[in-house]
Amino acid sequence: MFSNKSFFALAVVALATIVSAAPAKPVADVSASITACSGGGTGCVTVPVVSDSCVNLTGGLSFLNKEISQFTVPGGFVCTLFQDFGCTASGTGNAGSDSEVVLTQGTWNMFFAPGLSGTTNFNDLTSSFSCSPV
Ligand SMILES: *[C@@H]1O[C@H](CO)[C@@H](O)[C@H](O)[C@H]1NC(C)=O
Repeated sequence: MFSNKSFFALAVVALATIVSAAPAKPVADVSASITACSGGGTGCVTVPVVSDSCVNLTGGLSFLNKEISQFTVPGGFVCTLFQDFGCTASGTGNAGSDSEVVLTQGTWNMFFAPGLSGTTNFNDLTSSFSCSPV
């Protein structure tokens, strides 16, 4: 029977083996996060990226709903921001703006966001977003 110590040592070795067996180029950096900032002076928030999962700006993030003025996408990801909750583009976007914008790596000024029909003003329009590995 193993002592607790040797069991722990074995567990560490097993874990190290699993980690070193991972592909050299991971698909997604598990520590990646996005940063979203409001323009209204309520500041920025950093949210860990969960690939392909929809983040609604509700609950603890509701202060950012229709308030995002700047958005930072980490390397290796592309994020889509939506005017509606649920990460669906309903086509009922604010007049004059696209209902979604697709952001690649970098820090974006939402006044000049890449919409489906070209650069669009997406300031204070985001209600949900979703990020995927590139
Ligand atoms: C986001 O909001 C939409 C619409 O209210 C809802 O259908 C969906 O389940 C929500 N998604 C999450 C991840 O909370």
